[in-house]
Amino acid sequence: MWHFRLWKVQDVAVFLCGTLYMCHIAGAISIHSPQRRLTRSVQEDVFFSVNVLCNGIPTIQWTFMSGEVSRSIGIWQPGVYTNLTVDYSSRVQTYNNGSMGLSDLQLQDAGYYVVTVTETTGSSKDTGFVLKVNELLYEDLQYLSVSALVLACLASLLILAVWLLDQAYRKIVAWGRRKQMPENDATELQPL
Ligand SMILES: *[C@@H]1O[C@H](CO)[C@@H](O)[C@H](O)[C@H]1NC(C)=O
Ligand SMILES: *[C@@H]1O[C@H](CO)[C@@H](O)[C@H](O)[C@H]1NC(C)=O
Repeated sequence: MWHFRLWKVQDVAVFLCGTLYMCHIAGAISIHSPQRRLTRSVQEDVFFSVNVLCNGIPTIQWTFMSGEVSRSIGIWQPGVYTNLTVDYSSRVQTYNNGSMGLSDLQLQDAGYYVVTVTETTGSSKDTGFVLKVNELLYEDLQYLSVSALVLACLASLLILAVWLLDQAYRKIVAWGRRKQMPENDATELQPL
C-alpha cells in the first residue's frame, strides 16, 4: 500500500516535469506580428512583418495557401542558408527576423500566408496572414476612358454620316428641281 502510494507520487512528479518541459519547449518560440490582415493592389508590394524569438537558430518556412493550392515559398535559417522556390525567387525578400517581402503582386497572390518556425529541438510554431489583392483602380479608369473614346468616335462618325446624307439629299433635290425647271416654265407659259 505504502509502496503503491510512493509510485503514484513519483508518477505525478514525472508527469509534472514532463508538462513543464513541454511548456518550456513550446514557449521557447515566440512569433510577434503587428498586422495579420493586409490589403494591397495589383503590382504593389507587401511586407509580412514578424519577429521570431527563440533559443538558437530558427528555421523559417513560408507557405502560400489558397483554396486547394498549397505552395512552399521558401525556407531559410538566418545567416545560414536561404532557399526560395523558383517561382518566387525574383519577388521574395527574406529578413533575419522571419519577415518576408513580396513584390509585384498579382491577383493570384491573394490568400493565406503561413509562417512556420521550427527550432533545433524540433518544436515548432506557426502564424498566418491573410492577403487581399485588389485590381488596379487606374485599369478601371483606363477602361472607362477607352470606352468614352470609342463612343465619341462612333458619335462623330454618325454625325458625319448624317451630314453627308443631308448634303447628298440637298444635291439630289436641287438636281431634281433643275431637271423639272423647263417643264415648270412650259406649264407657266401655257395660256390659261
Ligand atoms: C523585422 O525586420 C524588418 C527589417 O529589419 C523590420 O522592418 C520589421 O519591422 C521587423 N518586424 C518586427 C515585427 O519587428
Ligand atoms: C530547397 O532546396 C532543395 C535543393 O537543394 C530543394 O529540393 C527544395 O525543394 C528546396 N526547398 C524550398 C522550400 O525551396
